[in-house]
Amino acid sequence: MDIDKFREEFKKKSVFRQVSSLDLSYVPDTLFCRDEAIRELIHNFRRIIDEKEQPSLSVLIHGKGGVGKSVTSRYFGKNFKEIALENDVKIFIEYFNCINFRTKSKIIRELLGKYTHGSGRGFSDDEAIKLILSKLIRDNGYMLLIIDEVHLLKPKEVWAILDIAETYGHQNAKLSILLISRTQDWMRIETERILSRLNSKIKLEPYDMEESNKILEYRSGLAFKDGVVHDDIIEMISQIVVDHNNMRHGIEILRKCGLYADKEGFEKLTADMVREASNEVYPTFRGDVVDKLNDQELLGLYGVAQSLLNNEEPYTIVDDAFLEYQTICETYDIKPHVKMSFRKYIRELNQLKIVASRTVRIEEDKRGRHLEITLLDIPAKKLVDLLDTIFEKKYK
Ligand SMILES: Nc1ncnc2c1ncn2[C@@H]1O[C@H](COP(=O)(O)OP(=O)(O)OP(=O)(O)O)[C@@H](O)[C@H]1O
Ligand SMILES: [Mg+2]
Repeated sequence: MDIDKFREEFKKKSVFRQVSSLDLSYVPDTLFCRDEAIRELIHNFRRIIDEKEQPSLSVLIHGKGGVGKSVTSRYFGKNFKEIALENDVKIFIEYFNCINFRTKSKIIRELLGKYTHGSGRGFSDDEAIKLILSKLIRDNGYMLLIIDEVHLLKPKEVWAILDIAETYGHQNAKLSILLISRTQDWMRIETERILSRLNSKIKLEPYDMEESNKILEYRSGLAFKDGVVHDDIIEMISQIVVDHNNMRHGIEILRKCGLYADKEGFEKLTADMVREASNEVYPTFRGDVVDKLNDQELLGLYGVAQSLLNNEEPYTIVDDAFLEYQTICETYDIKPHVKMSFRKYIRELNQLKIVASRTVRIEEDKRGRHLEITLLDIPAKKLVDLLDTIFEKKYK
């Protein structure tokens, strides 16, 4: 390609009005079909604004993947802050996704850095919390801490977070907590003790056809220029959302179709594009990231997927994945790296959110812990197929 052709690509008309409105972290100005959940949140937390004592409250939002838990909590946070300010209540909304912050300590350090500008080195978690709470009191502020994917923390840590108000005294804890988790994940960590600290549990159900239609119509109106997405296309995507119980699927399909249309110079989305995109979409699986992996990471990922496929458990352990990794390397005549390097690749995949891993204590193990790895959302079989295709192209 020469510079003129390069320039020409930029001159092509785009179907998008605002492609960033399809980003996962985007919070739309209007949130359709979640009125009840939002109302419940308002009535749980309004005491922070209404009452001088400013109580400490804890609420959980749960539901299946892609039902709008994250977007609902962010929408609530954003608007709650605005109303609080109108009422002269200085509120700080802090959102953490435990995919990025894997421990309670990491979250607390981050907060400490932000609120007291200290690194937090040398402080215990408890001391750090004390510093943050004192700072809030001094500034006459209040914090709503939103913790997404909270099941990635240890149950003990979840308990400790919910127990802050008890530990430091309700007068001193200018802090409320909104936890988010998929129902199934939450069930693994829920205990009586944790339950006893929750003021309320809000469950979000998947959207039905009518709701999906409404949401997708609104979202495509924000993202695309007029006339790009016709009603029958929206209808078609809504059906896919309902079939999978997952709105993320729909948003991803819109994004993929738009990018494809731009690249190929189409002015409208078509049913074929939707079908094509739908086959490629796994709601939280990040295909764009897989494309960027290096050979060793791809082979490592294959090891994880294949060993998950073999043992049919939700988690696999490093040793099993490493064996599969060695096998696939042999298949393609590639020299496998040592286990320590393999662990490094897994850590990198973890950081990229392609796999989730966590260290688990086990009593029988001499070293007392091992690393559990799982895939985020894509079925192991699908990933193995995808990687097979990539390898065939690369190594044949
Ligand atoms: N009511 C809604 N209005 C507009 N967009 C929505 C709505 N509900 C969900 N979405 C969009 O659908 C996608 C998935 O929603 P979200 O990320 O909130 O799901 P989730 O329940 O947190 O899923 P997961 O458990 O996988 O994290 C996002 O792009 C979000 O913006
Ligand atoms: Mg979410």
